[in-house]
Amino acid sequence: MDKIGGAHYGAKLEPKEWRTVWMWIESGATFSGTYAALATGMVGPSWPSIPDDSEPAPKDRTSAVLQRRCGECHASPRNPQTHPGWTAPEGKILLPHPRNHVRQAGPGVAVHERLVIPNDPLVRRSIHTLWNLSHPEKSIALLAPLSKEAGGWGTCEAAAGKAVLTSTTDADYRSLLDPIHRNAERLDTIKRFDMPGFRPNNQYVREMKRFGILPPAFDLSHDPIDVYVTDQAYWRSLWWTPMSLNSP
Ligand code: HEC
Repeated sequence: MDKIGGAHYGAKLEPKEWRTVWMWIESGATFSGTYAALATGMVGPSWPSIPDDSEPAPKDRTSAVLQRRCGECHASPRNPQTHPGWTAPEGKILLPHPRNHVRQAGPGVAVHERLVIPNDPLVRRSIHTLWNLSHPEKSIALLAPLSKEAGGWGTCEAAAGKAVLTSTTDADYRSLLDPIHRNAERLDTIKRFDMPGFRPNNQYVREMKRFGILPPAFDLSHDPIDVYVTDQAYWRSLWWTPMSLNSP
């Protein structure tokens, strides 16, 4: 970008052109450092909704436990498309916490942006932080309602003056822990880009073949691949190589 800001032999792009180059680099530079990470390693939904009392009784155990043990004080936000006009029940703490304050931040702020605000409720109640897939027992979703005597934080108890879960041998505690373990196992199978043994998906391989970066005979089921090296070869294939002055 320094080269197009005017310091380099007077090369200065118009603001719109400068922004186009900037956005091109931005969109190419995913934080993982490889396009192979796209749409891989996802095990959601990471938090089942707490069923509303007005809805039919939940069939799965985890939902039933959430309703019975958490629903008194917590509610889950509903999708406005399936529940038009839904508003949070008064006095209930939302679990997970919706990202409304991002939308309220005003024009120019995209919904995926993460604005950090004082005492940010998303730190402890975001859908992305409730579960700990590396150490399921250390999930905020379990530590908050579990009493201190049983190894939890006792957050709900301290705030509401009423014990919620008092033992890790409680069958309801196990019903909340089981899906976290299942998702941890699933992630270990499908792998995220930064986990040992990660393999890219079919789409990545298909496109890399299309651009001639991977050979047509590459077989994802057993051929070795280093996705960082593959990405580098892809970007290098787009480099502009000026014609040599000496060439015929
Ligand atoms: C009797 C009421 C009550 C019940 C039942 C309850 N909670 Fe809470 N919970 C609270 C209150 C109040 C807070 C807010 C605490 C605060 O912000 O200081 C809270 C906060 C939380 C948090 C955020 C923790 C943090 O550190 O900020 C999580 C996660 C949570 N509860 C999960 C649960 C789960 C899961 C259940 C059911 C197993 C549950 N709670 C049951 C009252 C309750």
